[in-house]
Amino acid sequence: MKLLTFLGFKKKMDEHKDPWRYISVRLKEYYTEPGMPTKDDIKITKKYATLALKEPKDRKVLILGATPRLRDLFYKLGCKVTVCDINKEMIMANTLLMKENNKDEKRVVANWLKMPFPKNHFDMVTGDLLIPNIPHKDRKKFYSEIKRVLKQGGYFLTRLAILTEGWKRDPVDKLIDFYVKRGYKKCRDQEMFCHILHQSFNPKTKMVDSMNVMKLLKKYWDGKQFRHKDKGMEKMLNRGHELWKPYDKKWSYNTEKDLRNELKKFFMIIRDNLRAKDHTMAEGYVNFLMKTK
Ligand SMILES: C[S@@+](CC[C@H](N)C(=O)[O-])C[C@H]1O[C@@H](n2cnc3c(N)ncnc32)[C@H](O)[C@@H]1O
Repeated sequence: MKLLTFLGFKKKMDEHKDPWRYISVRLKEYYTEPGMPTKDDIKITKKYATLALKEPKDRKVLILGATPRLRDLFYKLGCKVTVCDINKEMIMANTLLMKENNKDEKRVVANWLKMPFPKNHFDMVTGDLLIPNIPHKDRKKFYSEIKRVLKQGGYFLTRLAILTEGWKRDPVDKLIDFYVKRGYKKCRDQEMFCHILHQSFNPKTKMVDSMNVMKLLKKYWDGKQFRHKDKGMEKMLNRGHELWKPYDKKWSYNTEKDLRNELKKFFMIIRDNLRAKDHTMAEGYVNFLMKTK
């Protein structure tokens, strides 16, 4: 386990939350779709938000994390937006990537497991790919906290990372060939990383791990950088490296059945049928509209 040293104090690093702090400085260049919601994902979010809120104007919406496209969307819908993230660096870096200038947005630095908001306060809680950032042992606390700050009958809208039923590990070389054929494009490195990340799933720990992605790709690593005969692929591998080094980010994952059962204890699932058509990970990154029970 790595240690963070600050003013001589040694603190155990939190592999779910802390890596985001230094990822914040690379966001603009390297953190792309589908790690962030794609244009199709935003259309789906808009559809579900409008379905749930009916008249979104002046509705109170809490965005967990600082995802710029979600903040722009809910501002344009006329909602009163509050953003909550534990890393102020992420709030600051993501704010620079917004298209809209929401002067009324409230920005709060806090842990989602203990939020400084009153109970029965928000009409909707939303956020992108939140749940994998919460260790399995803290999930109950996380869902309870969302329910506490939501009004009775309030909505929880989020994109979930899931391993679909029948999921099985694909050989990484096969995935590399697939992305060589698709060709180089900025953001395809993230799409490929997300795809390979799913391959690193450990059914015992129920975790995926950026270090395991590196291990799966090690035959392409020459000690200093990734090498591949296809120069587009080489660029994608090295862009992924720039984003995820030093490979200490971990996420807690679930199979689809497992996650549905977990969520159903706290929420009713209202809609989950729409899929983005603009990325290959759409079956693994699914938008869910839920309501408090
Ligand atoms: C929402 S997630 C995933 C990123 C997302 N896909 C996007 O496009 O922005 C990342 C954010 O969650 C924040 N985070 C992770 N765990 C947290 C926690 N327990 N409390 C508050 N914020 C947390 C991180 O600081 C980071 O900014």
